[in-house]
Amino acid sequence: MEVFRTVEEMRAASEKWHAEGAKVALVPTMGYLHAGHISLVSRAHELADKVVVSIFVNPTQFGPTEDLDKYPRDFERDSAACEANGVDAIFAPTPDVMYASDFSTWVVEEKLSKPMCGVTRPIHFRGVCTVCLKLFNIVRSDVAIFGRKDAQQALIIQRMVRDLNVPVEIVTSALVREPDNLAMSSRNRYLSPDERKRALSLSRGILAAEAAWKAGEKDAQALIGIVKKSVEEGQGKIDYIVLNSQDTLEPLQKADKPALLAAAVYFGTTRLIDNVFLG
Ligand code: PAJ
Repeated sequence: MEVFRTVEEMRAASEKWHAEGAKVALVPTMGYLHAGHISLVSRAHELADKVVVSIFVNPTQFGPTEDLDKYPRDFERDSAACEANGVDAIFAPTPDVMYASDFSTWVVEEKLSKPMCGVTRPIHFRGVCTVCLKLFNIVRSDVAIFGRKDAQQALIIQRMVRDLNVPVEIVTSALVREPDNLAMSSRNRYLSPDERKRALSLSRGILAAEAAWKAGEKDAQALIGIVKKSVEEGQGKIDYIVLNSQDTLEPLQKADKPALLAAAVYFGTTRLIDNVFLG
């Protein structure tokens, strides 16, 4: 497995692979890899001959009061996990490789970025879109894999790629949960033992709502109410709970077409997200 730190090295490797006729997949990450990330690597192996994992804690997607400085980092561990899972190369640039000191160009998606996480994180998706377009231009992968854990993010990246004719196929992959159903996240490590216990009320609520939907409940307020009740029992502080169209992220009254039931909830100071696709 190779580790590239510069744009030139990464591009040269990708060019070489393409010249050999290989198909290249990219799994963009911010590191501190867990089984959710690794599931994307497995999907990448199914879709391509060469798999690149990018590890970059992207400063431009963090708001001024967010957790950029304390975001967990462990390159040795990540590197071992990539190696063990057959990754061909890690692209791990430093911030100065990615952003010139007078960087001034952004990619802004203006519709899907507005609701949900966009409300409390107004510059987040601008940073995500910008860094992902940069990664696509640097790695030049044929395909890139995104997790449905971050459903809104995956949808926005698909929209950006369509709108700007970016020559990469975006594939999404299922949300991976801990054995007790908490959605896997690098941020779970911030939770105290008490918060970790209470955080289960989020996945419990989401999965209970899914079960109710399967049993025939289609009313948005009823489904949202199931999640709300559970999270309140866990003393979570709700950022949002929504039932939105899977395509447009517009609110639905009824889950009678493909819907996304999604929530963001604080346990202590840690903000967790979870979701389920209904239909
Ligand atoms: P990060 O949070 O590290 O996530 C990297 C990828 O792993 C994303 O596509 C995310 O949806 C996926 N992922 C995380 N937890 C998952 C889980 N439990 N199950 C399935 N997939 C999961 O998302 C980012 O980084 C950044 O915003 C990035 C796209 C890299 C841009 O900086």
